Amino acid sequence: MTDTQCPTHPRQPAVACQECFDELLEARDAAGLRMWGAARLAADCDDRFPRRFAAAAVDHPDVKDWVETWRADPEAAPSLLLAGAVGVGKTWQAYAALREAATTVRQHPRFINRVPGPSWEAVTSADLYASLRPRTGVDTEAVMETYRRVDMLLVDDLGAAKNSEFVEETTYRILSGRYDDMRPSIFTTNLPPAELKHALGDRIASRLAESCRLVVLDGPDRRRAK
Ligand SMILES: Nc1ncnc2c1ncn2[C@@H]1O[C@H](COP(=O)(O)OP(=O)(O)O)[C@@H](O)[C@H]1O
Ligand SMILES: [Mg+2]
Repeated sequence: MTDTQCPTHPRQPAVACQECFDELLEARDAAGLRMWGAARLAADCDDRFPRRFAAAAVDHPDVKDWVETWRADPEAAPSLLLAGAVGVGKTWQAYAALREAATTVRQHPRFINRVPGPSWEAVTSADLYASLRPRTGVDTEAVMETYRRVDMLLVDDLGAAKNSEFVEETTYRILSGRYDDMRPSIFTTNLPPAELKHALGDRIASRLAESCRLVVLDGPDRRRAK
């Protein structure tokens, strides 16, 4: 053992041992302090992920690379835009990346003393717009605030909704709010990047181009291959 290794978990560095940190969090958790450690965060994903994607694990090298960037500094990381044809595994990679992001508790100022840990939401774009349509009895601004403020937001099938002023405005508010607060997101889209401009408008396409790491997935339609 060297003095750069953690004495309890030799695979980890001494100064920033993720395992020691997790144990500390679990102990606080057990003490009722409700700061979630890795086990609770993983259980939260198990509870809230769609069943089809419950076992999703990152197996694309560029997505792995994005996860590492997020881990290194969640505030400096770009958003992730997963593009590709129907059935290539975009939603799978997106949930896999979300799980990695949502369960990695780092000693980052943004998450220290956070109750209950890095927060996340995952939603299809259709459900996102539906939840934000003005209607009586619902404070849609509060819903918007949630989408803007969660530490990680997954929006599946961006660009699938028929374009309208409402869709454009809503998407822009979420994207620009998150961008300004340095909160990365994960998006998937069936559209080739060049067509996003038509579907979502110039302002949004250029925001996405500026703030996202684009990963294009290819291969066969996995649904037909089954
Ligand atoms: N890497 C993978 N390993 C195992 N199954 C996968 C993988 N990627 C996708 N799948 C499965 O293939 C199907 C299509 O994947 P999905 O992510 O829904 O495609 P897309 O979102 O690109 O249309 C789903 O049933 C999914 O569970
Ligand atoms: Mg999909």
